[in-house]
Amino acid sequence: AFNLKNRSFLTLLDYSPKEIKYLLDLAADLKRAKIGGYEQPTMKGKNIALIFEKSSTRTRCAFEVAAYDQGAQVTYLGPSGSQIGVKESMKDTARVLGRMYDGIEYRGYGQQIVNELAEFAGVPVWNGLTNEFHPTQILADFLTMMEHTSKDLKDVKFAYLGDARNNMGNSLMVGAAKLGMDFRAAAPVQCQPKQKLQDRCQEIASKTGAKITITDSVAEAVKDCDFIYTDVWVSMGEPDEVWAERIELLKPYQVNKEVMVMTGNEDVKFLHCLPSFHNNETQVGQDINKKFGLTAMEVTDEVFESDASIVFDEAENRMHTIKAVMVATLGL
Ligand code: CP
Ligand code: NVA
Repeated sequence: AFNLKNRSFLTLLDYSPKEIKYLLDLAADLKRAKIGGYEQPTMKGKNIALIFEKSSTRTRCAFEVAAYDQGAQVTYLGPSGSQIGVKESMKDTARVLGRMYDGIEYRGYGQQIVNELAEFAGVPVWNGLTNEFHPTQILADFLTMMEHTSKDLKDVKFAYLGDARNNMGNSLMVGAAKLGMDFRAAAPVQCQPKQKLQDRCQEIASKTGAKITITDSVAEAVKDCDFIYTDVWVSMGEPDEVWAERIELLKPYQVNKEVMVMTGNEDVKFLHCLPSFHNNETQVGQDINKKFGLTAMEVTDEVFESDASIVFDEAENRMHTIKAVMVATLGL
């Protein structure tokens, strides 16, 4: 019914609600097929380049496993070791890789870089996270919601707490607007999505029936929610200097048990794109702990480890949804 062949996947803004739902349905089908042992490879003989200018666990592994499941081969180009960004522009890189590969994933900095790659590669380009957007993550998040609620996505209410101006805040708002959901972002004004993107989402919402609320009140945002979502307070690529200010600003937006209770919904579930600072066990976490005296940041260990937490279903779904994007744009 839908022909997404040869399309790039750069931001959900470029996709219609029907196309997004199609990708979610396809992901669910591919997941069932893999689990059922009847998956059909549709990307035999295809070659895929994976450009990562920033670190990754989930996204890289999801692209690799999805490609191999579908019969394709991958080349990983990490933050160092290639000419990209050092001796060669993205425009030239695009024209080189486009001659050898059938599809290209890019994770890195500005959205304009992935846009330029797509403009000149001549093959589908998939955004594996930029400073502005993380669209493959949203597909995984929405598939996970579908698996954990009996409601239609358009009837789902969910709140994002924390840095709502980062790639996750932006992309969740766009995705919710497209699918007609009730989305609330709770953040101090400095961390709210930029006005221009808010306006664009409100305009989309007026057509899809979505409700988009941007507020600095946690209580207002979380009331009656089906899902609570958060992300790190400082994103990859941001300078270390922002930690102190960000912690000060976002401390009141931590997802803890009180917040979960405040929803008034006993069945409320917790989502996080990961990686997360829920117990400051990592080196970065311990440094922050020492410097700022915080044992957890955007989410407490208690919530992260609770039955309400569906973060590892979400992580698994990165693979099924990324596979759907590749199959739809590149498969047979
Ligand atoms: N959620 C996500 O994109 O994780 P990685 O940074 O590990 O890819
Ligand atoms: N906002 C985070 C998301 C990581 C998946 C970052 O960009 O670092």
